[in-house]
Amino acid sequence: MEFPAYIKHAQLRAWIEDMVALCKPDSVHFCDGSQEEYDQLCQLLVDKGTFIKLNEAKRPNSFLARSHPSDVARMEDRTFVCSMNRNEAGPTNNWVNPREMHKILDELFDGCMRGRTMYVIPFSMGPLGSPLSYIGVELSDSAYVAVNMKIMTRMGRAVYDVLGEDGLFVPCVHSVGMPLAPGQDDVAWPCVLDNSQKYIVHFPEERSIWSYGSGYGGNALLGKKAFALRIASNIARDEGWLAEHMLIMGVESPDGEKTYVAAAFPSACGKTNFAMLVPPKPFLDDGWKVTTVGDDIAWIRLREDGKLYAINPEAGFFGVAPGTNAKTNPNAAATIERNTIFTNVALTDDGDVWWEGLTKEPPAHLIDWQGQDWTPGTERKAAHPNARFTAPASQCPSIDPNWEDPRGVPISAFIFGGRRSSVTPLIFQAFNWVYGVYFAATMGSEMTAAAFGKVGEVRRDPFAMLPFAGYHMASYFNHWLRFGRHIPNPPRIFIVNWFRKDPEGNFLWPGFGENMRVLKWIVERVHTSAAGKETQLGRVPEYDDMDWRGLENFTRADFEQVMCIDHAAWQQEILSHEELFIKLYDRIPKELLSVRELLLSSLWSAQEWKNRYEA
Ligand code: OXD
Ligand code: MN
Repeated sequence: MEFPAYIKHAQLRAWIEDMVALCKPDSVHFCDGSQEEYDQLCQLLVDKGTFIKLNEAKRPNSFLARSHPSDVARMEDRTFVCSMNRNEAGPTNNWVNPREMHKILDELFDGCMRGRTMYVIPFSMGPLGSPLSYIGVELSDSAYVAVNMKIMTRMGRAVYDVLGEDGLFVPCVHSVGMPLAPGQDDVAWPCVLDNSQKYIVHFPEERSIWSYGSGYGGNALLGKKAFALRIASNIARDEGWLAEHMLIMGVESPDGEKTYVAAAFPSACGKTNFAMLVPPKPFLDDGWKVTTVGDDIAWIRLREDGKLYAINPEAGFFGVAPGTNAKTNPNAAATIERNTIFTNVALTDDGDVWWEGLTKEPPAHLIDWQGQDWTPGTERKAAHPNARFTAPASQCPSIDPNWEDPRGVPISAFIFGGRRSSVTPLIFQAFNWVYGVYFAATMGSEMTAAAFGKVGEVRRDPFAMLPFAGYHMASYFNHWLRFGRHIPNPPRIFIVNWFRKDPEGNFLWPGFGENMRVLKWIVERVHTSAAGKETQLGRVPEYDDMDWRGLENFTRADFEQVMCIDHAAWQQEILSHEELFIKLYDRIPKELLSVRELLLSSLWSAQEWKNRYEA
C-alpha cells in the first residue's frame, strides 16, 4: 500500500493495511483536513445526491443531508461495551464477549467497503498537542462522516506530527455496511436497513471502536460519544481524571471576575441553550457576560495548584435544530448562519432551511426531511425531531476566548439537572461532594420522545452518563468519590431543574436567559462563604438572595412554588432510588447508601415535626 510520507507511525500503517485487507475498499483517501479537501468532498456529496447545496446568499457554504428514515438517531440498544469481563461493563451497558464480538465484526466488515472509498481520518480530541488531548484515527467509507469530522474535531495532517512514530491513538473503524457490486448505483444515504444489524462497539481494554451499519451522528462520528465519553471514561478512570457529558461555560461579573462551571444534563434538556445563554437585559447592562467553552463534553483534570481544569475535546456543535431560533438561542442561530451541515431539516423554496420552532409561522411550502412536499397543516413534522446542525464552535458569538487553551479552564462548580415536572426544586446546593455525587448519581429525567421509554416517565440517568459510561456505573460513582478526596477545596455541586410545572401543567420557571439568575446565585456561592438557607436536601437561596431585576412579575409566591421541597414526595423520591441501587448493588459505594439513610431520616423527621406542629 502507498502511504503519504508524513505518516511515520509503523503501527498505524500496519493497522490501516489490515483494515484495508479486511474491508476491501476500491480506494483509500488520506484526509489532510484542508479547506480544499472539505470543499471537494462536499461537492462529491452534492454530485452523489447526499448533499443539497443551500442558497449561497442565505446560508453560505452550507448543505442539507437527508438520512434514510431508519437511520435518524443514536441507537442505545445497538451500542455495546465489550470488556473482557461482563461485570466490568456493568448492568447498564449491553455486553457481548469480546472474542465473540470480534468474530461477528470480522464477518460483517469482510468486504463491507467494496465499491467505496475508505477515508482515513486522523483527529485530535482537544486542542492539537495539548497534554489533555488524545488522538484517534477513524477509517470510514462515508464522505459525510469525513466532512462532519472536519467540523467536530481537529482533523487533518497536523495530527500525524503530534502522533510521531509511536504516539498513542484510538483506532476507530466505521462502515455504513452497504458494499456496492460492480456497476451498482449508490443511494443518497447508504446504511443497513435492518436496525438489528447495526453495531456500535467499544473494546475498553483494547481502546478501540467498531461501528457498522449507521451513518448518523454519534453512531458514525466516532470522536464524540464513542471516543470522548465511552472509551475516554475508561482512560480517565485508569489515569485519575474525568471524562464527562458536560457543557462548560464562563460567567464574567461586571468587575471582570471569571468563573467557569461545568454542567451535566441528560439529552433533550436544552444543554446547548444553557451553554450559550444570553443574560437578561439588566444583567447585560451591568456588564455580566456568559461565554461558551463547550456544549456537550468535558475532560477534567486536577492540577498541582489543587484546582480542576477542563477542556472541551470537540471543535464543533452537533446540535438539535428543532426549537432553535433567534429568541431561544441567538448564539446558536448566529453560529449556523454559514459553513454548516444540516441533517434532516426541511428545505424552503428559496433554498434555505426550516424546522419546527424556527419561526412562529411555517413557510407556505417546504420539502420535508424525507424529501416530500409539505404545507402548513400537514400532520407529519417538516423536520425530524432529532434533526441536527454541524457547525464550527469558532463561529459561535459567545465562544470563550480561552476555549482552545491547551491547559483548559478552571472549573469552580458543577451543575446537574434533569427534566422533572414535579418534586425537584429550581436550585439547591449539595452539602458537600459526597451529597453532590449522590444527587448526580440518582438524577432522573422525564422522557420527551418515546425512544427510550414512555413519554413522561422518569428515567434514571446518573450524571447524564447512562448511555455513555464505558464501564460499570457504580465503579464510575466510586471514581467520582475517590477523585473528590484528592481535591483540597472541591468545586461545589448544584442541582437545578428548569422544568417544574404547576398542577395545570404550566412551567413554573421561564427558563432560557432567565436561568442567568440561578447561575448568578451559583457564582456567588463559589466566591463567598455565605451558606444559603439549610434544607433537608442542601442549601437554597431565599427570594431576596436572588436578582429579580427585569422579572418583577415573578413573585415571592411563584418563587416559593418553584422552590418547594415536599417532604413526603422527597421521601418517595429517595425510596425510588432503590431500583437503581439494587441494579448496581454489587459495586455501589457504601458512602452513597449512608447519604441515602441520612436524607431519608432527615426528611422523615421534618415531616414528623410538621405533622405534630399542624396537629
Ligand atoms: C447528544 C446526546 O446528541 O446527548 O449530545 O444525545
Ligand atoms: Mn450529549
